[in-house]
Amino acid sequence: MTVTGGRGFLGRHVVRLLESAGADVFTFGSDQYDLTRQSDLARMYADRPADLVIHLAARVGGIGANRDNPGTFFYDNAIMGIELMEQARRTGVGKFVQVGTVCAYPKFAPTPFSEVDLWNGYPEETNAPYGLAKKMLLAQAQAYRQQYGFNAIYLLPVNLYGPGDNFDLQSSHVIPALIRKCIEAQESESGSVEVWGTGTPTREFLYVEDAARAIVLAAERYDEADPVNVGSSEEISIRELAELIAELTGFRGRVVWDRTKPDGQPRRKLNVERARREFGFSSTTDFRTGLAETIRWYRTARSGVPESSAQAASPRVR
Ligand SMILES: NC(=O)c1ccc[n+]([C@@H]2O[C@H](COP(=O)([O-])OP(=O)(O)OC[C@H]3O[C@@H](n4cnc5c(N)ncnc54)[C@H](OP(=O)(O)O)[C@@H]3O)[C@@H](O)[C@H]2O)c1
Repeated sequence: MTVTGGRGFLGRHVVRLLESAGADVFTFGSDQYDLTRQSDLARMYADRPADLVIHLAARVGGIGANRDNPGTFFYDNAIMGIELMEQARRTGVGKFVQVGTVCAYPKFAPTPFSEVDLWNGYPEETNAPYGLAKKMLLAQAQAYRQQYGFNAIYLLPVNLYGPGDNFDLQSSHVIPALIRKCIEAQESESGSVEVWGTGTPTREFLYVEDAARAIVLAAERYDEADPVNVGSSEEISIRELAELIAELTGFRGRVVWDRTKPDGQPRRKLNVERARREFGFSSTTDFRTGLAETIRWYRTARSGVPESSAQAASPRVR
């Protein structure tokens, strides 16, 4: 089987889980096969024909990265997915798992977000190009199932966090950014950290190992056209999140809210019933425990002490 993006944050956990179950997994980086190039993509399928493709490769990032690169986020994510699924169909791949994103949901979808509301509005503007590019791949998966009988499934993970996340402040999501800021403020004995927005929006987070388990379960058990949310269904405000991370990192200073920066989507919380019903997934990692583990991993990675698992990749900490 092939896992694209298998060297990324989520990908490493998916590959590790599959390999621990005895699977022969082929994965690669964009330096070997650039999936935005048709010729590389054709070469990849020719080099390693696969029964199952799990497509995780993507251009991803937090609000800042989305705002600065809307064209790249749209083009790369759309073209990689469209071409990869088309070539999968043509080369006889048996099953294709497309990993989408919560950013595809309408800005004001009723909470908890239910899959039936996915098309009822435009996504939040800062991440719309990314969310819409990935949402088109749902239309493609359903069209290919209808016309060609191609078994493509579509998952909608919520915001992920955990060991191996991207801690580069230019592109990171909110949890690694807050962890890094709190730890660096402690080290420099600064009395405050600055956080984007007002703190009032809410988010839901899923521990990356739970997300990997959901993807593997869906690959094994789910063969339907309908998209499926993958989350924890636990909602927390960004203000509460900042307080919790400050507590867990031991940062005792002030959190200063930069209200000139965007908040992003007002609320995020998923209805996760379909995943439970269709392939038996529910998240098991308590949020506090997952955060503590992420902080522990980041401190170890910063100190340069190698770990011995898939979690050992060095953090992106530009
Ligand atoms: N992180 C989240 O909170 C989150 C939430 C919902 C959904 N997702 C989805 O989960 C998937 C994985 O996200 P992630 O956070 O693990 O991202 P990530 O750490 O940035 O990993 C993405 C991977 O995609 C590869 N890639 C990017 N462009 C490529 C190209 N042109 N050709 C080949 N490979 C390319 C990268 O390989 P190189 O490093 O070699 O370039 C990288 O390993 C994505 O589909 C994302 O949309 C993520």
